[in-house]
Amino acid sequence: MNAPDLPEDDNLGLYQHATEAGAEWWRVSVADRPETYRLEHGVDNGSGPGPVDIDLVVDAENLRAKLKKWRREGFAIDTDSASGERSTAARVAFMPQLQRAAALAAAAKQREANGLDAGMGTTVRIGHVDVPCGAGHALVPAVNPAYLFAERFNDIVEDIVENRRVMLIGHTGAGKTSLIEQVAARSRHGVLRSNMNGQTTVGDFVGFWTVKGGETLWVDGVLPTAMREGLWLIVDEIDFAEPSILAALTAVLEPRGRLVLKEKGNEIVAPHPAFRLFATANAVGAMSQFRHLYQGANLMNEAFLDRWRVYLLDYLTPAEEANVLISTLAPHMTRPLATTLAAIAADCRAAFAREDLSSAFSTRRLLDWAELMLRTGDPERAAGPAIYSKVSPEDAALIRGIVRHHIAPAA
Ligand SMILES: Nc1ncnc2c1ncn2[C@@H]1O[C@H](COP(=O)(O)OP(=O)(O)O)[C@@H](O)[C@H]1O
Ligand SMILES: [Mg+2]
Repeated sequence: MNAPDLPEDDNLGLYQHATEAGAEWWRVSVADRPETYRLEHGVDNGSGPGPVDIDLVVDAENLRAKLKKWRREGFAIDTDSASGERSTAARVAFMPQLQRAAALAAAAKQREANGLDAGMGTTVRIGHVDVPCGAGHALVPAVNPAYLFAERFNDIVEDIVENRRVMLIGHTGAGKTSLIEQVAARSRHGVLRSNMNGQTTVGDFVGFWTVKGGETLWVDGVLPTAMREGLWLIVDEIDFAEPSILAALTAVLEPRGRLVLKEKGNEIVAPHPAFRLFATANAVGAMSQFRHLYQGANLMNEAFLDRWRVYLLDYLTPAEEANVLISTLAPHMTRPLATTLAAIAADCRAAFAREDLSSAFSTRRLLDWAELMLRTGDPERAAGPAIYSKVSPEDAALIRGIVRHHIAPAA
């Protein structure tokens, strides 16, 4: 029925033709019945499109005749307005197309992995991802059997396998460092940590010359050490790093990026294939709204951030946290106790988000409080060293109120 050289759907849009007073226009859109088109007409007298004065539905053949006529009369499709119409089709088509493309990409990756498996060492499955195992090292962290790999961590683990630079941002104690350490622990990779919120100098980080027994020798910093030995380096609190350290890091942010040791006669350090680089930060990017809580943190520029995959790590959900409490403090921590404690932590975090509380409530703090509570049998006494002594008196009073709300005094 349709002439193959005239796909009518490509002709949807707004056709305009200038008049002395303004413009005359026809809008072509898809009508309800298949292969029919709605034509609307109006006049723009200089103050806007004006009301629709003709509104009709035509078939494809009729539309083609109209298009021909309009072209003769000097109507031109207005691409700006037409893009509104076209984007409807593009909008609807995007997700199905993306899903097909992603499925093909996953299948290709799987084929590649199957091909590599023969030549590659062992892998360990973490969440949904097969992670190649390291050779083992004195710096492999201990496995925490109670560690919970949430579904949302899969993307991060996949990025590690793909050798992406991963930055984890989130509040203190949300689990940034432990996520990387637990992936490393299970896949037997050694981990070096370097905290930027302290006395870390560019010498510690990159290396320095020293004199020992009359001899001058070079000592590698953590970065070249990790690169040469194939360790995983976590640059903690990167938003506190000195500019000279960030400059050294920038060189190795590309997956095959090499480090040039200028102080050592421009020696080039190439990354071992197992080398991985991570950063953590509290107040960068999406977390900048909390900068007032992390005094002294620097803003990181977007060009630097764009070299990383930046993941916002939130606290575990109350259900997840209850599970972690139970498995960490087995066999004595019961589900009803754990559920109440996780709810208290959630309430404290909500108060923090409202700025009623000025201190964050970490999973570490909760675990510590729970552990001490099992020893003392007294939540209030346990909260002293685990919580109250670490916060301001105002915060302590507010937290005490939240605890009392959830736990009635013993009869
Ligand atoms: N997914 C998890 N499963 C079990 N425990 C967790 C999890 N995430 C965090 N924790 C606990 O919280 C503590 C604090 O996490 P950490 O990684 O040090 O936080 P951050 O680096 O964000 O400050 C960890 O030592 C661990 O005990
Ligand atoms: Mg940390």
